[in-house]
Amino acid sequence: MRGIVLAGGTGSRLWPVTRAVSKQLLPVFDKPMIYYPLSVLVEAGVEEILIITTPQDRPLFVRLLGDGGQFGLRLSYAEQPRPEGIAQAFLLGADFVGDQPVALILGDNIFHGLGTQLDLSGELTGGRIFAYPVANPRDYGVVEFDRDGNVVSIEEKPVMPRSRHVVPGLYFYDHHVVDIARGLTPSARGELEITAVNEIYRRRGQLRVTVLDRGTAWLDTGTFEAMVQASEYVRVISERQGRKVGCLEEAVWRAGLIDNDQLRALARPLRHNGYGQYLEDLLTDASAVVP
Ligand code: DAU
Repeated sequence: MRGIVLAGGTGSRLWPVTRAVSKQLLPVFDKPMIYYPLSVLVEAGVEEILIITTPQDRPLFVRLLGDGGQFGLRLSYAEQPRPEGIAQAFLLGADFVGDQPVALILGDNIFHGLGTQLDLSGELTGGRIFAYPVANPRDYGVVEFDRDGNVVSIEEKPVMPRSRHVVPGLYFYDHHVVDIARGLTPSARGELEITAVNEIYRRRGQLRVTVLDRGTAWLDTGTFEAMVQASEYVRVISERQGRKVGCLEEAVWRAGLIDNDQLRALARPLRHNGYGQYLEDLLTDASAVVP
């Protein structure tokens, strides 16, 4: 399976902070935001990832992540000049997707505790998305279920939401998603909507929607307050458990994409702070082998 991280956008809701730097490079507690979605893709078993950025931010992402070789990943980059919709990711990434299934994750979505919910048993046909209850559904794509748990509708930012279940920014599709995206027309807000893609799969009877466990955290980073809350959440969990959240170096090591020596090499330049120490401790801490 291929992976795409969509990390473009103007970040205008966070201006002036994001005037000069991409939102997805801002820190969420102790690491750049993009580490979190990258770690989710790794946990889902993805090794080949396309990162979509604005043209001006691309060199910064390359400076941070390079070709991914140091993480045992294959990273490539594409540019989205203007934020013309989440589904545009499949047009920009059409060649990259080819005939493979693909996981798309939004570069500003923070998940914690997805665990086995990321296991896609067998071949992926159609679309597979998640639902999560929130207090403010009208800010998202909203899913309506009937009594039997079937999805009846998916609406983008409805004024009158039909449920509190919304769609987080993590989507799995078969390769037909590229053709579906090609057939879309821009919505009233001028975007190729991911909700329109999901609606097409739903109408074909090919959309599976799984409600995430209550223990799973999905955090927003859309406002100044939400950014601080996400950082605080990560800090509290990491300090309590002694385990980092969204630690890309750890994720690739646990996935077997890098060996102990490679993890040691990643830790070395970070030795002067707790981050590097944490990575080195993974190699000696017997409890670290527990997933
Ligand atoms: O967060 C989940 C929600 O994401 C879903 O529930 C909605 O169905 C979906 O439409 C989307 O909601 P927003 O419209 O609020 O997303 P936003 O415009 O904030 O973009 C999300 C991220 O994707 C953000 O980091 C910027 C990036 N992005 C967005 C668009 C539209 C791009 O890189 N390019 C784009 O063209």
